[in-house]
Amino acid sequence: MAAEDCIKIPDNYEGYSLDMFCLPKHYENDVESIMIPKGLIHDRIERLARNICRDVDKGPLIGLCVLKGGYQFFGDLMNCIRTINANMDRSIQMSVDFIRLKSYEDDHSSGEVKVIGSDDLSALKGKHILVVEDIIDTGATMQKLLTTLQKFEPATVKVASLLVKRTPKSNGYRPEYIGFEIPDKFVVGYALDYNEYFRDLNHICVINENGKKKYAIES
Ligand code: HPA
Ligand code: MG
Repeated sequence: MAAEDCIKIPDNYEGYSLDMFCLPKHYENDVESIMIPKGLIHDRIERLARNICRDVDKGPLIGLCVLKGGYQFFGDLMNCIRTINANMDRSIQMSVDFIRLKSYEDDHSSGEVKVIGSDDLSALKGKHILVVEDIIDTGATMQKLLTTLQKFEPATVKVASLLVKRTPKSNGYRPEYIGFEIPDKFVVGYALDYNEYFRDLNHICVINENGKKKYAIES
């Protein structure tokens, strides 16, 4: 299926100033603007869940959460799917699994990533998989993950990503379900991190120079 249209945030979008919404005091000097307030994130996820349920013709479905950044989106998406399931004549049985990815250190050209921290992936054989990711940037990681997953012979694999970045570094990969297409800026919040910080920020925000400096990895 071609990518459904998504909400496209234009390059000249300035976002919302910080004093229009509530955010944690410990981050108020570290972000320049609020790009996507949490309410809008949730409203968009409701519709993604509806689209996903509409398109499933065979279940059960395994929701595969790509940690750590995907955990908020995954939780909210699964909640919405559960609500739809409870209220429709036709329901989709769901199970969940969680993966973390590690690039192969000794062979960067293998086109694969190492999947760590999941159940035995051979359980994916013959199953319908929905991979849930926070952001597609260059697309390289997702393309490698899809190559790796194919080895386990799933019946179908689809991908839902909350964000897709518009960047010249993109390899052109587009997931089936996209929440928002965003400008080429570094965003944090709603589980997206900068060196493990900002996952506890509720809105999706653009980090500023102060934040980058404050939370830089010390060398
Ligand atoms: N924010 C957080 N993590 C990311 C980003 C981003 O903008 N791009 C790729 N990984
Ligand atoms: Mg991610």
